[in-house]
Amino acid sequence: MADTKKTVQLSIDGKNYDYPVIEGSEKEQAFDIGNLRAQTGYITMDNGFANTSTCTSAITFLDGDKGILRYRGYPIEQLAEKSSFLEVAYLLIYGNLPTVAELTTFTKEITKHTLLREDLVKLYDGFPRDAHPMAVLASVVSAMSTFYQDSLNPKDPAQVQESIIRLMAKLPTIAAFAYKTSIGQPRIYPRNDLEYCSNFMNMMFAVPSEPFQVRPEIAEVMNLLLILHADHEQNCSTSTVRMIGSSAANLFASIAGGVCALWGPLHGGANQEVMEMLQTIHNDGGDVDKYVKLAKDKNSTFRLMGFGHRVYKNFDPRAAIIKKACDKVLTTLNVKTPLLDIAKRLEDAALKDPYFIERKLYPNVDFYSGIIYSALNIPVNMFTVMFALGRLPGWISHWKEMNDSGTAKIGRPRQIYTGPTARDYTPLQARK
Ligand code: SDX
Repeated sequence: MADTKKTVQLSIDGKNYDYPVIEGSEKEQAFDIGNLRAQTGYITMDNGFANTSTCTSAITFLDGDKGILRYRGYPIEQLAEKSSFLEVAYLLIYGNLPTVAELTTFTKEITKHTLLREDLVKLYDGFPRDAHPMAVLASVVSAMSTFYQDSLNPKDPAQVQESIIRLMAKLPTIAAFAYKTSIGQPRIYPRNDLEYCSNFMNMMFAVPSEPFQVRPEIAEVMNLLLILHADHEQNCSTSTVRMIGSSAANLFASIAGGVCALWGPLHGGANQEVMEMLQTIHNDGGDVDKYVKLAKDKNSTFRLMGFGHRVYKNFDPRAAIIKKACDKVLTTLNVKTPLLDIAKRLEDAALKDPYFIERKLYPNVDFYSGIIYSALNIPVNMFTVMFALGRLPGWISHWKEMNDSGTAKIGRPRQIYTGPTARDYTPLQARK
């Protein structure tokens, strides 16, 4: 971060105040208002923090106008084509692409930690069968802080590393166990002879009574989807992980909070909503124009799920990659679904419509991902869990960057109070 020597000037009540301008490596600029309230008595208001940075970060850069997304400087298109999810996880968490030795060690460490403590597994039988898997995921991740009490200290690098490995290793097991428990099938334990994505798909779909083989194409497309979801700078769930971590809470507690934030239908829960929306449109005869119209109607709460983005005011580069992968995966797996055709017609109709054009609403990462998850036989209520599996290294990298910075302060935004002014207590009998 460069101190530009530039300043901006605020004029308040006839007095001028200068604030330093800081500039990032991609020439983004901000003025630092760290002493605004002390100097002027004023604070700022920025609903949803659309104009407010809370930190500097060297992890992910995105340019919403140009549709650019880079992890530690590497374009998402190159990582999607050439990398593996564990390699991308290493890149995000530790800052550089690993050497052969580093990747081998990282992979081996993760493989060795994929099992859950048997006492932790007992938790699953306490949930109702129809529990949403995101609730189970958040609960079990939070419970990890009770089973792994030897790695909770955020200031001890060795304990942090242990927790990073445990989370990367166990989240697929936690997710697959949630699914198997919900359908009443035996939970399939991880296998150390399978690579990360194949191991997860095996835990999801194998049964003890017969052999099961994960098709390489399926492992390959899951690897792609996890890479595309791995990080996205200060999105809602990542900012939540940073906020929780800023109180020096342990990594398990911080990640559990990220899972809860991701669950929301406006965020990671959108991929489930997209599929339910496409199914609704299909069941209603496939009339996409009717639903584009509904999405524009201010009297309707209906939104085109999978469309729009706080930052991307151009095509989400991840959506473009997933859309291409959709055709390939459905052809390879010989899966026919009317929902892909509906999605494409819906996209065409929306992108021609002035309402969407004026508001720069384009398909986002969630618009096509569910079609691929369905082709992999992943149930709709597990779609956001898949997003969490991908986003885990991103959450970890931001939590670690904040803790390693040594300059992070506990997050504590201000407010403008709009409640009643001072008034005296009224005794119960005197209240009307
Ligand atoms: C993710 O932040 C990230 O990086 C998130 C994410 C990540 O990787 O972490 O990219 C993942 O969360 C993707 C977004 C998934 N959510 C959805 O697909 C839900 C549908 N989209 C919207 O709810 C909305 O677009 C948001 C929440 C994504 C963004 O909302 P903003 O930036 O706060 O925009 P807004 O709600 O203020 O909308 C601006 C205008 C409004 O109309 P007007 O008041 O100007 O008339 O656009 C309209 C909105 O009504 N609008 C939509 C719309 N999205 C916005 N209208 C119809 N359908 C939509 N999907």
